[in-house]
Amino acid sequence: ALRGSFALKAQKANQRPQYGLQPLATYKVAILGADGGIGQPLALLIKMSPLVSALNLYDIENVKGVAADLSHCNTPSQVLDFTGASELGNCLKGVNVVVIPAGVPRKPGMTRDDLFNINANIVKTLVEAVADNCPDAFIHIISNPVNSTVPIAAEVLKQKGVYDPKKLFGVTTLDVVRANTFVAQKKNLKIIDVDVPVVGGHAGITILPLLSKTKPSVSFTDEEVEQLTVRIQNAGTEVVEAKAGAGSATLSMAYAAARFVESSLRALDGDGDVYECSFVQSDLTDLPFFASRIKLGRKGIEALVRSDLAGLSEYEEKALEALKPELKASIEKGIAFVQNQP
Ligand code: NAD
Ligand code: LMR
Repeated sequence: ALRGSFALKAQKANQRPQYGLQPLATYKVAILGADGGIGQPLALLIKMSPLVSALNLYDIENVKGVAADLSHCNTPSQVLDFTGASELGNCLKGVNVVVIPAGVPRKPGMTRDDLFNINANIVKTLVEAVADNCPDAFIHIISNPVNSTVPIAAEVLKQKGVYDPKKLFGVTTLDVVRANTFVAQKKNLKIIDVDVPVVGGHAGITILPLLSKTKPSVSFTDEEVEQLTVRIQNAGTEVVEAKAGAGSATLSMAYAAARFVESSLRALDGDGDVYECSFVQSDLTDLPFFASRIKLGRKGIEALVRSDLAGLSEYEEKALEALKPELKASIEKGIAFVQNQP
């Protein structure tokens, strides 16, 4: 954000004309599913990043219009459109970060797992193309059910012989964004200061906010812990119901995904102080994938923040044990989907 505001100020005052429309760094980002409810606002937010030199938009729907529209913004990155499977490979060549929000969203009454049958295939196909065209890229999976689509992506990458567990991420940033917002509101805190780690997975009770680890340090009554935890776990459903059949969270998701992209780009650019929560391959528990805070670096995940799971409250310990069977089943469903293909 600092670099962004600096770039804009410099452009305005014309003090550093050498930057002109040149990006501060030259990273290429691709969005797969760029025409969608998340894809479009996400593309706009990434277009604002001074770290991006190229923004490649891909969808099975025509993305020409979205790309033409965005390309008129006087920010550094060049926007290119890629429509249909025949253009997917070209979209991915030389890309540093691939963001995947392609797939169908929930309607009221559905769980995220109800999206599995459609979205599993979409993610599998797209990740196969990532493996073939930009196997070194950071891969950000947004498509639900994240608890299964990330294991699907890992299996596809393994089959292609290019799996790097340090570069595959399930995007759970929205859970942290929500937790920070709801805690700041409830405790009357300055929102910008609040940081709540959210661990586990990204569906129902597998979403576990660690309120005892909230920064700044704040105390909650048992009732507050229960209310906040349930609200954070059901926040996606809150939006699905409010949209009444027109889809799920798109704007807050785009905001959250843009934050995760910006963090990834800062890490790639050598910033040594980048931490985010994400659903990744993990040895923090006995499950093969688990969301936790991670330290990001040039090569992807540099470390899992182990201390977050030490010294949990009794409520959190119980919730952690309670979420494991569901999360384990969702992970195994994703792995089996790829392994059982003929
Ligand atoms: P949407 O229907 O508005 O957009 C999806 C886009 O994907 C469409 O433009 C569609 O044409 C495209 N698409 C479909 N199949 C494709 C394919 N094979 N290749 C490329 N593009 C394809 O849906 P949305 O609201 O943007 O949500 C997208 C996904 O993100 C859903 O699965 C939703 O559940 C998920 N989601 C995840 C989170 C999270 O926190 N991880 C948050 C919100 C939504
Ligand atoms: C969310 O948390 O908003 C997303 O996972 C979309 C959904 O289906 O709730």
